[in-house]
Amino acid sequence: MNILLLGSGGREHAMAWKIAQSKQCDQLFIAPGNPGTASCGKNIAVKATDFPALATVCLENKIDMVVVGPEDPLVAGVVDYFASNPAIAHIPVIGPNKQAAQLEGSKAFAKAFMIRNKVQTPAYKTFTASDSAAAHEYLKGHPMPVVLKADGLAAGKGVVICQTAEEAIVEFDQMVSGKFGVAGNTVVVEQFLTGIELTVIILTDGKTYTILPPSKDYKRVGDGDTGLNTGGMGAVSPPPFATEAFLDKVKEKIIDPTMMGLKNEGIHYTGFLYFGLFNSNGEPYVIEFNCRMGDPETQVIMPRIANDIIDLYKAVAQGTLASQPLITDPRPCTTVILASHGYPGVFEKGYAITGIENTEQCMVFQAGTALNNNGELVTAGGRVMAVSAYGDDIASALRTSYINAGRIYYESRYFRRDIGWDM
Ligand code: GLY
Repeated sequence: MNILLLGSGGREHAMAWKIAQSKQCDQLFIAPGNPGTASCGKNIAVKATDFPALATVCLENKIDMVVVGPEDPLVAGVVDYFASNPAIAHIPVIGPNKQAAQLEGSKAFAKAFMIRNKVQTPAYKTFTASDSAAAHEYLKGHPMPVVLKADGLAAGKGVVICQTAEEAIVEFDQMVSGKFGVAGNTVVVEQFLTGIELTVIILTDGKTYTILPPSKDYKRVGDGDTGLNTGGMGAVSPPPFATEAFLDKVKEKIIDPTMMGLKNEGIHYTGFLYFGLFNSNGEPYVIEFNCRMGDPETQVIMPRIANDIIDLYKAVAQGTLASQPLITDPRPCTTVILASHGYPGVFEKGYAITGIENTEQCMVFQAGTALNNNGELVTAGGRVMAVSAYGDDIASALRTSYINAGRIYYESRYFRRDIGWDM
């Protein structure tokens, strides 16, 4: 099979690494990819949201399947585009359609869906610029801290935890005034929960689902979970507190009502569905849905899937997932993100990266990297790469991730020193 993978981050490098291991994969193309994905297949300089150009790539390269990494093409309707274009309608696209991707594309839609379908989630209210006075009053009476979320896609930056009503009012006004563009036209004001976060991702063919290995990512930039929220600075799988009993609750109180709600509302959801959860006093609550795999969760989940991943993708496309049980690699896996100093704020790019060749017994998944005019690997993003490793337990996996993280060098290198600290 010829496969086209969309995206260019560390998640996509891990997805490409896994697809390239399949004996069923003849040629893998990645649009647009990064220097890391070029070691798994052929990068094609086409944006993941340029649908007409993707159609041409598919026809020219006899593509048999498209796998989607990031949310943008899904929310913009890549699945619907392929299905409605007769020349490419025969090519399965692994991911949800535009309507289903609203679970990530609109936080207000997702919250209303959860309340309608009794999926456990923190209490919330939505406001727009035209309700500013009501929003201010509401925030003044709300227990602190409080969570403000821009409704639309904001590249992982649209969630802000405010400690005081004054701070929340300023943040609300900035969001509805365009701080996150149109994504902030509607703001979700959500109850703040205490507890511990984890990620549970399922793969579904629209009829049944498979729960992928659970994981936990570390979103704050600083050690001890301090500082600004990021896309994620590291991850572990499995988090020890994701016990069988807790995962049974996740199934009963979160996943099953979600799947039933999708069915009852006539939403045909296929592909990955990401449940960003909070374990609050042993009870799971949904903090967010995403319509794709997580980043950096993928960098610890893909290594723990022992199936030929193409078997799973084919089963999603054909509606036969029930006959493809997941085979899990029992070894825990961890990842540490090497970032650029200053991320998630302002940071410099273009620093030469050395030492990847000295790493051992680990997987280095590239994200914000590029080749300069001399063909040297340089930094090109906030999250530069992920260093993933297996271990007999979480602690030994982390040791291997950290030993190898230390072998890679570039000016402005920054990484958290405490991934897995709470495990
Ligand atoms: N790591 C969080 C996310 O992928 O949304």
